[in-house]
Amino acid sequence: MNLPAHVRLVEVGPRDGLQNEARVIAVADKVRLVDDLGDAGLGAIEVGSFVSPRWVPQMAGSAEVFAAIRRAPGVTYSALTPNLQGFEQAMAAGVREVAVFAAASEAFSQRNINCSIAASLQRFEPVLHAARAQGVAVRGYVSCVLGCPYEGEIDPQQVAAVAGQLYDMGCYEISLGDTIGVGTAGSTRHLLEVVARRVPRAQLAGHFHDTYGQALANVYASLLEGIAVFDSSVAGLGGCPYAKGATGNLASEDLVYLLHGLGIHTGIDLPLLAAAGQRISAVLERRNGSRVGQALHGNAL
Ligand code: HMG
Ligand code: MG
Repeated sequence: MNLPAHVRLVEVGPRDGLQNEARVIAVADKVRLVDDLGDAGLGAIEVGSFVSPRWVPQMAGSAEVFAAIRRAPGVTYSALTPNLQGFEQAMAAGVREVAVFAAASEAFSQRNINCSIAASLQRFEPVLHAARAQGVAVRGYVSCVLGCPYEGEIDPQQVAAVAGQLYDMGCYEISLGDTIGVGTAGSTRHLLEVVARRVPRAQLAGHFHDTYGQALANVYASLLEGIAVFDSSVAGLGGCPYAKGATGNLASEDLVYLLHGLGIHTGIDLPLLAAAGQRISAVLERRNGSRVGQALHGNAL
């Protein structure tokens, strides 16, 4: 068994997690969450997004959050930018890494960003161009890689095609999102075998949702396929506003517990991470979505 010695986590809770919350979350609570995550040793934190506030009202305060966070040395604080307008807002907020997001399904692309896959890639061109000119790193997402809430099954070749185009355009890493959490260890391995013919494994990341309870199994399958970067969300926060059934993301605490149990280094302090998850769950007045968080802190509201 040839597992990576080190795995990099990309913490998406403050963005992918909180974007889904209907009620207003105070900027101070978002800032506290990001700072707690930095203290817990996360090296990459997705803080917010510069999208239309009409589409995702919860992310409207992202510039204020960026202005108030304590930037720990060596930590990357990134934001989602769907177009040049969002990119420019991100630059004004002092963001130094952004992510563009495409989908492997046409229907999801329309619902999420109001355009076809091809049109979305065209929109990303000027973002990548401007980012290159300013020395800003760009990550690429592909959503619905193992199934779509509107189209059902997704052909792995289609995922490989979109991921490959993002890679060719200059995204340094492509995160493959099982947005509705329908993947299994078998379908995950098959997908990665196909996509890895187009994008090197070292440039791929896994982004799993736990809707069917398969996220950790899918991480393990990905580790066996040589993937060493995973997105996760503290306390299992989140989902996607344009994907019904996309319940929580894989909880960061559960991911770290798995990885440390395998002897894989992450640089993350699990008790501090679990405390951060417990704190934001209390703020949101919801049950902690991490099983490890529940085990360490009890599962009361
Ligand atoms: P649109 O309506 O087609 O945009 O939305 P438009 O270009 O026609 O502009 C319409 C209005 O939006 C204009 O304002 C623009 O200024 C404004 P008006 O003149 O009418 O007052 N606008 C913006 N405002 C702020 N920031 C911007 C921006 N762009 C235009 N960047 C658009 C197209 C892409 C903007 C919209 O569909 C959108 O914002 N979508 C974002 C949806 C989103 O954030 N989804 C969640 C993230 S994806 C995800 O969660 C999945 C992932 O986690 C992986 C996984 O789990 O699988 C990544
Ligand atoms: Mg997600």
